[in-house]
Amino acid sequence: MDKGLLIQKIKDGTVIDHIPPGKALFVLKILGIDENTREIVSFAMNVPSSKIGIKDIVKVENRVIGEEELNKIALIGRDVTINIVQNYDVVKKFKVKLPSEVIGVVKCPNPSCISNTSEPVSYRFVVVDGRLKCHYCGKIISKDVEKWIVKEDVKREKIK
Ligand code: CTP
Repeated sequence: MDKGLLIQKIKDGTVIDHIPPGKALFVLKILGIDENTREIVSFAMNVPSSKIGIKDIVKVENRVIGEEELNKIALIGRDVTINIVQNYDVVKKFKVKLPSEVIGVVKCPNPSCISNTSEPVSYRFVVVDGRLKCHYCGKIISKDVEKWIVKEDVKREKIK
């Protein structure tokens, strides 16, 4: 193993790199990686990076995650880089890009919002100037978006 390489290179799968330090667990949550996941998943937190000082990194083996799903990671950090690995080579590399709408992933912080009632509506935000604005009540999440990311079971329930 290379000196300083904390997690082994993977043969096939998706590497999520340049995650802001300490935020890897939120990335797992966005991707729905939980106790039901069967793929090999490795991650490291607070590792040195020549590009951003300190970073987190997540590697999911044998799974090519869709670009739409990966772009939701931009909620956590705009410099996150995705590497698709095939037979040990990086065959595709791109930076995540915040989508224009975020559905089912983030809960509205407004307890009176219709999306927090028993009405059958998904959590739904539009992205305005890089910030999330609730489609229903207009509440804007200006910081700590990760606090409002919902768990996989809630997500499934909420995407109707
Ligand atoms: N990686 C991996 N398994 C592979 C190939 C790459 O886990 N078979 C990981 C590397 O450890 C690295 C990331 O994927 O964290 C990107 O790899 P690469 O493009 O080779 O590295 P850099 O050139 O340093 O990438 P960047 O310029 O995006 O920092």
